[in-house]
Amino acid sequence: MDRIWVQGGRPLDGTVPISGAKNAALPLMVASLLTEEAVELENVPRLADISLLTDILAQHGVAIEPLGAGGLRLQAREIASTTAPYDLVRKMRASFLVSGPLVARCGEAQVSLPGGCAIGARPVDLHLRGLEALGAQIALADGYVLARAPKGLKGARVVFPFVSVGATENLVMAACLAQGTTVLENAAQEPEIGDLVACLQAMGADIEGAGTSRLVVRGAGRLKGVRHAVLPDRIEAGTFAMAAAIAGGSLTLAGARARDLEAPLRVLAEAGIEISEGPGGLTVARNGARFAARDVVTEPFPGFPTDLQAQFMALMSLAEGTSHIKETIFENRFMHAPELMRMGARILIRGQTAEVAGVERLKGAPVMATDLRASVSLVLAALAAEGETIVNRVYHLDRGFERLEEKLSRCGALIRRLTD
Ligand code: EPZ
Repeated sequence: MDRIWVQGGRPLDGTVPISGAKNAALPLMVASLLTEEAVELENVPRLADISLLTDILAQHGVAIEPLGAGGLRLQAREIASTTAPYDLVRKMRASFLVSGPLVARCGEAQVSLPGGCAIGARPVDLHLRGLEALGAQIALADGYVLARAPKGLKGARVVFPFVSVGATENLVMAACLAQGTTVLENAAQEPEIGDLVACLQAMGADIEGAGTSRLVVRGAGRLKGVRHAVLPDRIEAGTFAMAAAIAGGSLTLAGARARDLEAPLRVLAEAGIEISEGPGGLTVARNGARFAARDVVTEPFPGFPTDLQAQFMALMSLAEGTSHIKETIFENRFMHAPELMRMGARILIRGQTAEVAGVERLKGAPVMATDLRASVSLVLAALAAEGETIVNRVYHLDRGFERLEEKLSRCGALIRRLTD
């Protein structure tokens, strides 16, 4: 199993190309199930999660081929199977997104329940209640959800009791092929939803309210093909911003958009990190001075993203003062804390809040990661730590960060992948 070796203590300097967003590319790929014409996506990151979704879509009958450098062409002329099997779905929850498009197009879907994952129970009840509101009959059998709407889905008003990125994406896709108008209230407003809506609109969908909490979808009989470029990954950009902050130096994040990162950039600026936006992207710098502790609470967009919480905790472990980090999205997303403590961080977990007392230095150690964002937080800590760190279980990183060690080493980090 691959590991990552880091020799800490080197400032970073250079330009990092920000890849296409994993969490936008996944639903955009699923949107190919909505039309028999080709969906051509540019700027798709090369990641394990993308390959896995490729396998899932292929077994539904989608023909997938590379498109230029870093693109994918997906065409679902016919749906070969409306079943998404357990073996594939359990590996990646985002594959549950096929349920809405399949039932909307074929009148039925049989999708394995994803099960829990390292960061929490993560049920799919909002997806199911939403599909039910659109007229699907839902049954559970042998670990599978069976959704049936033989006469097609019908537009309806769906009020989400709380914000869910995945349920919003699933329902907005399904509503595009439903008869009549669907109104989604308390919808997620993440930039990835905006990207999905923009792509669906270019496919001929009639959707109003992108970027707000109320989406109105007037069902179209059919959607057509499209060519669409995936938006830049705000979580990757935010991670490199924190890398510059923790290691010191200056990084230009080519392609990153400040409007997708307002909350984290505000907190970094308050902590004393220099941030500027130019035509080519964002520049994040820290020269010498230690940064101040700041408190954050994770929230749906436009709040501070849960997907940057672990990275921010690594940063705060070296801040001047004590920081309180409250996780409100997932119930079990502090597994990086004990690993950071192995490197000398002082962290106390009280329920959903981590109290991080900044220390002057961290020390390298062998550490282990349990999920994607936790792994990268350990790499960030390692960049600033004295001595060597080995991060085990790197396959988590490969799910969501494209060429991380290459991008960092080009900017001066001493980082290498060890393959056994
Ligand atoms: C998306 O997950 C992202 N994944 C996650 O990124 C991200 O952390 C999360 O949104 C929050 O921003 C993708 O886009 C592929 P949710 P998703 O539905 O859609 C609960 C990463 O590291 N919930 O907004 O699954 C749920 O358990 C990943 O890239 C229900 O209770 O997140 C969670 O507590 C990790 N019932 C909360 O809502 C439901 O039916 C928000 O989840 C659905 C969700």
